[in-house]
Amino acid sequence: MKKIFLFLILVFSLQAFSQESFQIVSGPYLQSVTDTEATVVWTTNRQAVSWVELAPDDSTHFYHAPRPRYYNLSLGKKLIGTIHAVRIQNLEPGIKYRYRIYSQEVLEENASDVLYGKIAASKIFKANPFLFQTLDKDKTSFSFLTVNDIHENNDLLKSLLRNVKNENVDFVFFNGDMVNNMQTPEKILNGFLNLSVEMFASEIPFYIARGNHETRGLTAGRFMDYFPTPTGKPYFTLEHGNTFFIVMDGGEDKPDSDIEYGGLAAYDQFRIEEQQWLKKVVQSEPFKAARHKIVIMHIPPGNENAWHGPWHIKELFVPVLNGTGIDLMLCGHIHRHAYYKDGTGGTDFPVLINTYKNKTRVDVSDKGLVVKSLNEENKPEFEIELKM
Ligand SMILES: [Fe+2]
Repeated sequence: MKKIFLFLILVFSLQAFSQESFQIVSGPYLQSVTDTEATVVWTTNRQAVSWVELAPDDSTHFYHAPRPRYYNLSLGKKLIGTIHAVRIQNLEPGIKYRYRIYSQEVLEENASDVLYGKIAASKIFKANPFLFQTLDKDKTSFSFLTVNDIHENNDLLKSLLRNVKNENVDFVFFNGDMVNNMQTPEKILNGFLNLSVEMFASEIPFYIARGNHETRGLTAGRFMDYFPTPTGKPYFTLEHGNTFFIVMDGGEDKPDSDIEYGGLAAYDQFRIEEQQWLKKVVQSEPFKAARHKIVIMHIPPGNENAWHGPWHIKELFVPVLNGTGIDLMLCGHIHRHAYYKDGTGGTDFPVLINTYKNKTRVDVSDKGLVVKSLNEENKPEFEIELKM
C-alpha cells in the first residue's frame, strides 16, 4: 500500500514537473505598419491576455516611467488566445518607437470570474526594448526587398536576409509561397516566421502577399490572425515615400474544381471581389497623387494558354491597372527570373518575376526606381533603372 502511495506521489510530481512553464513561443513581429499604426504579433504556448507597452525613442530608460499599454482587443474586450495581435493607433509618421510585449496566462474564464497565471514578457533590462519606425509619405528616398517561393527553406531565407538589418531597407515583402502549406501553426513558425523574427521582423516590418501555397491546409483559415492588414483582407495598400503600393492576392493557380483543392476552393469569386476593391483603389486620390505606383502579387498575369489562375488574374486585374500609371509589378510563383517590359503580356507596365533563389531590391527616389535581383552572395544578377 505504501509502495502504491509513493508511486502515485512520483507520478503526480513528474506531471507537475513536466508541465512546461507559460511562455512566449514566437515573435514579436511587426505587421500592418502604416504612417499612423502598427500591429505587434506573437504567440504563447497557452491561453493568455496580452498587451504592448510603448515608449518614445528617447534617452530615458524603459523603466523610467509607466508606459502606455495597448491591449489585444476585440469588440471592446481583451481577447484570450494564443495568437496575440496588438494594434497600436494614432502614431506619428516617420517616428521611431520602442516597445515591450506582455502576456498573462488565463487559467480559467468563467463569466466574470477570471483566474490569471504568470506573466511572460520580452526583456528590457538585459536586452534593449524593440524599436520600429512608422511609414512616412513625405520621405524622398527609401529601399525595400522582396523574396518569394521560399517553401520553408530556412537556409535559403537566411542567406538572402541574414544582413537585412544592415542593408538600409524600410521593409520586406514576402511575395508568397513562404510555406508549402499551412497545415499546422508549426509549418508557419518553422517554415519562415521564427527565422524572420530572429533576423529582423521584431524591428523591420514584413508585409506578406499571400501565395497559393498559403491557401492550403488546416491553418489557412487563420491567415489573417497571423498576418493582419489595414483592410482585414489579404489584399491591401500602403503609402510610403510618395509611393503607393497595391499588395494583391492571386488566389490559387488551377481551376477551383481541381482535385488538389479537395473541393474547398472558391478563388474565382474571391478574385472578382478583389477586382471590385481594386477598381476603387485606382480611383482614390492618394493613388492618383502618388509619384510611384508599385503592385506586389505572387502569381503573375498569364496569357490565354496559361493555367486558370494567371489567366483569370489577367482578365480581371490587368484591365483595371492598365492606364493608371503603374511603374512596376513584382511577382514570383514560377520559380525563375523573368522580366517583361511594358506592353508584353497585355500590361502597359513592366513585370519583374523574382526567382526563389534571389531577392529583389528596389531603391526608390524622386528620379525613379533602381531594381536589382541579388543572389545569395548579394551580387546583382539583373538590374534595371525605371526613370520617371
Ligand atoms: Fe506559387
